[in-house]
Amino acid sequence: MFNQRIKIRDLLKSEPENQQVTVMGWVRSFRNNQFIALNDGSCNANIQVVAELGKFDESLLKRFTISAALKVTGTVIPSLGKGQKLELKAETIEVLGDSDPEEYKLQPKKHSLEFLREIAHLRFRTNTFAAIFRIRHALAFAIHKFFNERGFVYLHTPIITASDAEGAGEMFRVTTLPIDNPPRNEDGSVNFKEDFFGRATNLTVSGQLEGELAATALGEIYTFGPTFRAENSNTPRHLAEFWMIEPEMAFCDLEDNMDLAEAFIKYIIRYVMEHNSEDLEFLAQRLAEEEKQLPQDKRSELGLIEKLKFVVDNPFERITYTEAIDILLQSTPYKKKKFLYPVEWGIDMQSEHERYLVEKHFKKPVIVTNYPAKIKAFYMRQNEDGKTVAAMDILAPGIGEIVGGSQREERMDKLEQRMKEMNVSTEELWWYLDTRRFGTVPHAGFGLGFERMVQFVTGMSNIRDAIPFPRTPKNAEF
Ligand code: 4AD
Ligand code: MG
Repeated sequence: MFNQRIKIRDLLKSEPENQQVTVMGWVRSFRNNQFIALNDGSCNANIQVVAELGKFDESLLKRFTISAALKVTGTVIPSLGKGQKLELKAETIEVLGDSDPEEYKLQPKKHSLEFLREIAHLRFRTNTFAAIFRIRHALAFAIHKFFNERGFVYLHTPIITASDAEGAGEMFRVTTLPIDNPPRNEDGSVNFKEDFFGRATNLTVSGQLEGELAATALGEIYTFGPTFRAENSNTPRHLAEFWMIEPEMAFCDLEDNMDLAEAFIKYIIRYVMEHNSEDLEFLAQRLAEEEKQLPQDKRSELGLIEKLKFVVDNPFERITYTEAIDILLQSTPYKKKKFLYPVEWGIDMQSEHERYLVEKHFKKPVIVTNYPAKIKAFYMRQNEDGKTVAAMDILAPGIGEIVGGSQREERMDKLEQRMKEMNVSTEELWWYLDTRRFGTVPHAGFGLGFERMVQFVTGMSNIRDAIPFPRTPKNAEF
């Protein structure tokens, strides 16, 4: 019976009263031929198992190597050692799985995050990654809780689709045609009529368009699923496969949208602060250590937990794109020509610009609204000025853009005209346009990049460390 084990997390919360328990886990260390630190992933802390001298065979003791899997039954007693309330005095110890220390790649010493990415199948066994993935779970749970409490319907949008929701052409093709010799049309182009779906299809870049269909009937929905982008961006903030949360609300304008996004972000951070304090403290310490290596001016002013508390307790700054550009034009790095990319009205702000606004100028999350229509997707609502659209991006310290959203263009004529200008086919999106034909309403929504959120909460500087198995250009191992 495996399910009679007690999880170490629960055991550590109990009082030592000589009770008999069984724990199972993996060896983190074995000291003095007597003390086993055992971890089962339920929490960061290990249980100290005491294998009294003389009680166990020498041949058994030899097998208590790093990462060996053990089943231990014994008595819970108060601990004499410091830093722990109780320990487990072993009666029986069974090795469930041996681990050859010569072959084991995750030696008990400090490893670089880069190296750990190469052994991503083992990095769950480090304190850092176990903490990250427990927090990732808690965030996912809090997201569902938040929307459920507000009566949103969780909508599963398709992974395979024939449309490019963002119109950016960064899609992974899905096909069963032989790539070395596909059937061709007379003009030499590939004949997708012969393909599995009878047309060209790709992995979704966003569930938004389908989300709008449901929101204009169910009222308020959200998606939470994987999305795929074949953008060749090798940066600490881009993945080719990432998870996105996309709420979509009928009867909602840009301001309502911003209010929801801000409340949402604060809610999920607060949830993790309340439920994962041990893991957060561990990661805060890790980050503080890491930052000691940096020159003074590159270090954060706030520790991880203070930063989260600050975000939860203070209103986000709200500015227009035009105001943002003005601030950049007045900034010292602009005047001293420190920005790599040009600054002028109309640019798609680069990460260096976003980070200046958030980290240097406002020192808090910033919501930037009303971007130039030219740099945003076809579905965003056109403003009266004829130049900008009702878009909003939320920029977070250390991350840059964490949320992208907008009020949607609900006016049929304006939408069709915009699609034509941007070469988005009105025929292919006939079903999308039907929402504007039949009972169209003001509506809005946004997308939160889940891994960027995990990065923000865990303080990890590379997005590859916020997802179990990162997919990036030239890398799809595991
Ligand atoms: O700004 P994006 O492209 O917006 C959309 O996809 C809209 N359809 C959302 C909506 O209004 N429903 O992406 C939304 C967020 C970004 O702000 C960012 O956090 C994240 O998704 N994101 C990525 N995260 C990791 N790797 C990438 N390559 C990402 N691209 C976008
Ligand atoms: Mg965006």
